[in-house]
Amino acid sequence: MSTYQPVKKVTTHTLQEMKNRKEKISMLTGYDFSMARIIDEAGVDVILVGDSASNVMAGHETTLPITLEQMIYHAGSVVRAVSRSLVVVDLPFGSYQGNSKEALSSAIRIMKEAGAHAVKMEGGSEIIESVKRILTAGIPVMGHLGLTPQSIYKFGTYVVRAKEEEEAAQLMSDAKLLEEAGCFSIVLEKIPANLATKVAETVQIPIIGIGAGHGVDGQVLVVHDMLGINNEFNPRFLRKYNNLHEQMLNSFKQYISDVKAVDFPNETEQY
Ligand code: KIV
Repeated sequence: MSTYQPVKKVTTHTLQEMKNRKEKISMLTGYDFSMARIIDEAGVDVILVGDSASNVMAGHETTLPITLEQMIYHAGSVVRAVSRSLVVVDLPFGSYQGNSKEALSSAIRIMKEAGAHAVKMEGGSEIIESVKRILTAGIPVMGHLGLTPQSIYKFGTYVVRAKEEEEAAQLMSDAKLLEEAGCFSIVLEKIPANLATKVAETVQIPIIGIGAGHGVDGQVLVVHDMLGINNEFNPRFLRKYNNLHEQMLNSFKQYISDVKAVDFPNETEQY
């Protein structure tokens, strides 16, 4: 008798079923093969190839400089690593805001060249035509509202969004619009927990929060942040599950010291 058990892949439908039965969804960012392999093995439901790669992988101050080609490179590395997680890829700044034809062509490149399972786009009513056109091609779309880092120069700061009534009402209306258009999920970033809960209760599709409290359907964190690799980023919403900055620093220091002392390699570490 064979004991072979095929891996049950997470799909956009799995996420909807999870919301329906009130099971929380876990999502983490991933940008490279080795890390994505571990994240997938751990059982994380969704890996987001976020344009935060621009910050944590390339060292840019904002997410704006990363290109479509660079996102495809990161996404392909993640897709090759994954056997279970759903892989969602950010459409980078400048690849979809021009017009819906350009948006569709960018989304198709991500699906075709990287083998991604879905794309994510920042914005509401202002990008709805592009969202609809991409969906028409059979490409699943995840929305992103609240703090949308691609618009950082419009906002001016990374402070909590939608605290005022007018902006909160606009966010709610955008969430409904994205749901009506056919998005399978929406990320809500850095908004008051009460508002995020209200959105999650109002729309039927899964709402994934970052800095949006626990009343939503799932959570996402940037993997480098939650592992404590960058010790200079400490927002209130971030829980650090490790202090890899310190652990890596100590490992590198120990390696230097071993090399200098001719302790590495020893007799058993050579041919
Ligand atoms: O790019 C990213 O990492 C994101 C998450 C913060 C949601 O969009």
